[in-house]
Amino acid sequence: MIKMIKRIGILTSGGDAPGMNAAIRSVVRSANSHGIEVYGIRRGYQGLINDDMIILHNKTVSNIMNTGGTFLFSARSKEFMTPEGRKKAYKNIKERGIDAIIGVGGDGTFKGLRDLSNEYPVNVIGIPATIDNDIGCTHYTIGYDSAANTAVEAIDNISDTMQSHERCSVIEVMGHNSGRLALYVAIATAATTVLLPEDKWNFKEDIQDKIRNYKEAGYNHYMIIVAEGAVNNDEGLEIKENVGEAVAKLIQERMNIEPRVTVLGHIQRGGRPQVRDRVTATRMGVLAVHTLMEGQKNRVIVHKDNTIKDIDLDEAINQKSRLYRQEKEILEELTGKVKG
Ligand code: F6P
Repeated sequence: MIKMIKRIGILTSGGDAPGMNAAIRSVVRSANSHGIEVYGIRRGYQGLINDDMIILHNKTVSNIMNTGGTFLFSARSKEFMTPEGRKKAYKNIKERGIDAIIGVGGDGTFKGLRDLSNEYPVNVIGIPATIDNDIGCTHYTIGYDSAANTAVEAIDNISDTMQSHERCSVIEVMGHNSGRLALYVAIATAATTVLLPEDKWNFKEDIQDKIRNYKEAGYNHYMIIVAEGAVNNDEGLEIKENVGEAVAKLIQERMNIEPRVTVLGHIQRGGRPQVRDRVTATRMGVLAVHTLMEGQKNRVIVHKDNTIKDIDLDEAINQKSRLYRQEKEILEELTGKVKG
């Protein structure tokens, strides 16, 4: 392995995800073991612009493997989206003698890396982390499993009390643009039905008939999972936000059932990372450092077919995220015609 770099900067950007800290730790420990210095850039791209950086030693990243959030803080920097913002950022990168930037985050983070590397001679590596698991180039993003486990635990609790009272629950799960988390969670909680941003829903088919089927089969508790971005319906109903409340209102008005609504919200983004996220983040962090040491330029670390590997950044950005149709079909098959 040829060592071509002396100093790396690492930042976390966009919505945080459990396991981001494990990725930072892994990059720091791996880089330091090869004599490479690591700067932690605080508050994402805004920290690059503001020159808000700290040197990360092995000791600095002790005791963070098991913590949620990101100790480097995260932000969505509007200034970095402008050429002027990136100019300021590059000035600081150059003055600090940083050879490469590792960005941990979602699609927006990768686009920031691409713009920076297109305009200035700086090498960049992306590590995918978002609870949405909605990055097309990778089968898995750090944080997905932890968020899903948090949601499932909360829904199991809600389910206990809703069953005792023979009620209908509407649970809103995170995901403005992607229903992957909602679908995954719906399967794991044996939901009655799920509404997703990717699919237009029909009240009769996707909610009413499902509840009726369950009722006729003798069930007395119905669990409706909705992604926060599931606003597309085929009746032209104007739903812009608070989808859970809107769906509950329809159930009340059209079926005379009084649902209880729970919006899980940011509780899903926090909390201790699960083993899968700790291990995936650690493997991705080490590969990010090795990729840089091999002299590779502008890469994204991905998880594909049970392998962690690196691919070209532009190629990564061009891949669109799609819903796992097979998961949707499985849920349909199990909830479609419930009998006895
Ligand atoms: O991208 C992660 C995510 O948690 C989405 O699931 C959600 O739609 C969005 O971020 C919420 O963003 P914010 O925390 O800015 O409200």
